[in-house]
Amino acid sequence: MKIHERLAELATLGATAEGIDRALCTAPEYAARERLVRWAGSGGFSVDQDRAGNVFVRLNGREALPPVQCGSHLDTVKNGGAYDGAYGVIAGLEALEMIASTGVMPRRPIEVVAWAGEEGSRFPLGCIGSAVYAGLTPLAQARAVIGDDGMTFGDALASPTGLLRDVPVRDGFPPPVAYVELHIEQGPVMERAGIRLGIVTAIAGQCRFHVEITGQAGHAGTMPMAGRADALCAASELTLAVDRAAHDVGNAVATVGRLIVEPNQTNIVPGHVTLRIDVRSVDDARVATIEKRIRDAAATIVQGRNVRITIEPIETRPATAMNERLRKVVRDVCTSLDPKAANIASGAGHDAMCVAHVAPVAMIFVPSIAGQSHVGAERTAPGDLELGVLALMGSLLAFDHELTTDSKEK
Ligand code: GLV
Ligand code: MN
Ligand code: MN
Repeated sequence: MKIHERLAELATLGATAEGIDRALCTAPEYAARERLVRWAGSGGFSVDQDRAGNVFVRLNGREALPPVQCGSHLDTVKNGGAYDGAYGVIAGLEALEMIASTGVMPRRPIEVVAWAGEEGSRFPLGCIGSAVYAGLTPLAQARAVIGDDGMTFGDALASPTGLLRDVPVRDGFPPPVAYVELHIEQGPVMERAGIRLGIVTAIAGQCRFHVEITGQAGHAGTMPMAGRADALCAASELTLAVDRAAHDVGNAVATVGRLIVEPNQTNIVPGHVTLRIDVRSVDDARVATIEKRIRDAAATIVQGRNVRITIEPIETRPATAMNERLRKVVRDVCTSLDPKAANIASGAGHDAMCVAHVAPVAMIFVPSIAGQSHVGAERTAPGDLELGVLALMGSLLAFDHELTTDSKEK
């Protein structure tokens, strides 16, 4: 089966009228992990999982050394696309299949990891699985995170759509000697420049905040305008301040993408709003400046709108530079496949940000048609998907070879 056919098959799991809804530990997301395990089993690879729900598919090496690793995620955002995350996982599986078909065993094991819940679309902590793996979030703390449906991650893992039933659960997966993540670009830069393979330089840092705005609910017909404490008006001003801060600071983005209005009734002045803010830049100082501007704006809004506002960070990930040495290897592989292969920064977050805390990491991008992502219309040309698999396979083999020929373990 070709990679775009496998991705099309996965895309049926969680399909909605507008895209794919495959949040972590829901039935469709469980089914996607099961499908991966089934395909991995047909390839003769070993599969196990850790207690955070990360799934490891492994081609054994000649020696029992720490692996060379690739991976990405199988969960999606709400009404998301078929390629964000799933591509990196399935491409990894195809790379393993191609390597295995040569009959030449690598020196090290080569692993593909399906990281649990990269999107943070059910539990408000992105990269939850890779953060636990990398020791950034203790498992107990991750298990206590409460999802948007009120269930904790721990309870979701124990539910019928949590940890895979027929896959061994293990502890103590050793960090890899090198990690490479293949992903769609999710923006328009590569397509516009005619670049088919991108060598990622760095992943933008990101901060997410949970904001509570408390005003006073009341009758929409009888409460005079003067003296109201309308939480939605305050939220609107704050949202515009977030947008303005990113424009003013530059080389950064900031978004309010989630807003819950209570009681959310036509004839009631909104008494309470919960919202989340997402701020990103490859320059961490800009993220900090934007946060300060948002907090200053909130202080002004509190005075002017007669409301209370609390702003709590829920996720802080600094900008992550890719490892220089791995990047050089990836660049050589990519330029041999695409003479126009070029460097590119990632505005999106990836599991590589977390893995970078325990291993050297690199990333490869393929173009997104019209730059569309996090929407059902997300697409990449089949030929580009296949080229990416070759780049991934070449990089995995080059890492195995490089780290074999010049490491002290030799
Ligand atoms: C994940 O895709 C993110 O960048 O939010
Ligand atoms: Mn992704
Ligand atoms: Mn995504």
